[in-house]
Amino acid sequence: MIQVPDTWKFVHVTDIHIGSPESYRFQPGWNNQWSTAAKQIQAIAPELMLVGGDLARDGNTEPQQFEHSIQVLNAVGVPWHVIPGNMDTGNKITDRSSLRTDRDDIACNVTEELLQTFKDKVGAFPWSFIHHDVRFSGCYEIIKDAGLPSAIELDRFLAEIGQLPPSHFHVMLNHYPLFIDGINEDQYDITDPEEYMSWYFGVDPEPRKRLIEAYQKAGVTHVLSGHIHCRRPPITIDGITFCFGASTAMPQFGDHWPDGDDTLGFQTFTVTPEAIDFEFHPLTEVSTRTDGWGPGGHPKPEARAK
Ligand SMILES: [Fe+2]
Repeated sequence: MIQVPDTWKFVHVTDIHIGSPESYRFQPGWNNQWSTAAKQIQAIAPELMLVGGDLARDGNTEPQQFEHSIQVLNAVGVPWHVIPGNMDTGNKITDRSSLRTDRDDIACNVTEELLQTFKDKVGAFPWSFIHHDVRFSGCYEIIKDAGLPSAIELDRFLAEIGQLPPSHFHVMLNHYPLFIDGINEDQYDITDPEEYMSWYFGVDPEPRKRLIEAYQKAGVTHVLSGHIHCRRPPITIDGITFCFGASTAMPQFGDHWPDGDDTLGFQTFTVTPEAIDFEFHPLTEVSTRTDGWGPGGHPKPEARAK
């Protein structure tokens, strides 16, 4: 019988946004920051690395970027498991656009074609496996109830993990956090500039409710998310601990919560028989390069010229 060690670690990285100098936009500092994180992770020597989406700068519009992201993740030398993010496959689906003139929200919607491209070029999802006595699952939660074939696959997956024998801990990897300000928060209005970022960053109430029900049935104990590029101290609600993870690439939303911190870095989790302990690791060096180019956000096609 294989012995489970008393203490072991896994790492959660998210929003690493590896970009390409071939692109209409590129921030070499973000790639340098990943190199710093990779060295720090190698020194920690975790058993697993969970990659929480947005592994490329622009995988949705330039899927050839995935190849480089895969190379740099492989180079760490730690087995890794990945789900997509919105910059890899598209945003939360909306039937109306915001008032922003710099983006077309409807055109940013996730599509089945983009999800399939990710599956072909990077890897299949959703997934679930046991490592030692911990179950790890990963899914692209934002497609819940979106009507896409991959959303129907997600429903099947959630039903299946709800039938599995219980495990000591169950860690669920997501990209979007399930909520922004409160687990029972109402729908944010995409057309209200004051609410736009909260709309953009979180899961809508109905799919949130159904995801949480499914996670409860599956005995999920920890939900790890990215997308915001701002970490918070873990929040435990009804037996599930929600961990909002930092980005290694660039900070966002750092002024939204009193306990929010957009310092760049990654998370380690130390598993013991009693608990999974969280620790944030700030990057030991943040790039000061200013020689990047191109717009941020979700530029319209005409703004993507090199
Ligand atoms: Fe991101």
